[in-house]
Amino acid sequence: MKFFLDSAKMDEITYAIDMWAIDGVTTNPRHVQAAGKPFMKTVQDLAELAKGTELSISVEVNPHFSTYEEMVREAHKLASLSPNFAIKLPATEAGFKALKILSSEGIKVNLTLAFSATQVLQAMRMGAYFVSPFIGWKESNAEAVFDFIQEIVAIRDNYAFKTQILVAAVRNGRQIADAAVIGADIVTAGFAVFQEAFEHPYTTMGLGRFQSFWDKTAYE
Ligand code: E4P
Repeated sequence: MKFFLDSAKMDEITYAIDMWAIDGVTTNPRHVQAAGKPFMKTVQDLAELAKGTELSISVEVNPHFSTYEEMVREAHKLASLSPNFAIKLPATEAGFKALKILSSEGIKVNLTLAFSATQVLQAMRMGAYFVSPFIGWKESNAEAVFDFIQEIVAIRDNYAFKTQILVAAVRNGRQIADAAVIGADIVTAGFAVFQEAFEHPYTTMGLGRFQSFWDKTAYE
């Protein structure tokens, strides 16, 4: 199971690489806006960061694009910046068409904003490198996400699709563990989600308890 950080902030990304050994980064327009720099500057910085590494970086095309031609043109430009880039395209008719063209050219596509098993199936059929089901948003809409991930994994396995299932908009450690139990390939989550998921109050409490015993014991 791979961990990707959902962020475009350099300080968060470098910390997560160093301390958590994350395998990749996913960005979206919200993260790029939060990083506080122009889009192209952020993307170029990410390309520089990934240079000579295995780090996977997903960068998203302009969400105003409505035609596949616009998406393909922008995807070519972004993909030329780094071999580590996967280009995020939306799960729309134009997005699927652009995906098919780009995947046939060997460009990695991360089909994003996927909310139904059929959208995920279509992404796999069109040759997506990653597909990103947004489970946090579905859960906010009172939809069952455990079952959703199970369906997606079953579809992938039934037809031996190569697409990697990148469970996105993950909100807590329970969801990370659920995705791993079901057999998803990757989870992407924000900085605070990973930080909290790696902690447990009993670990903190237990350390404090052991420290008090340690302090009352001679070392030699
Ligand atoms: C994934 O690739 C998306 O960037 C992300 O998970 C979106 O979710 P959020 O911004 O609501 O966390």
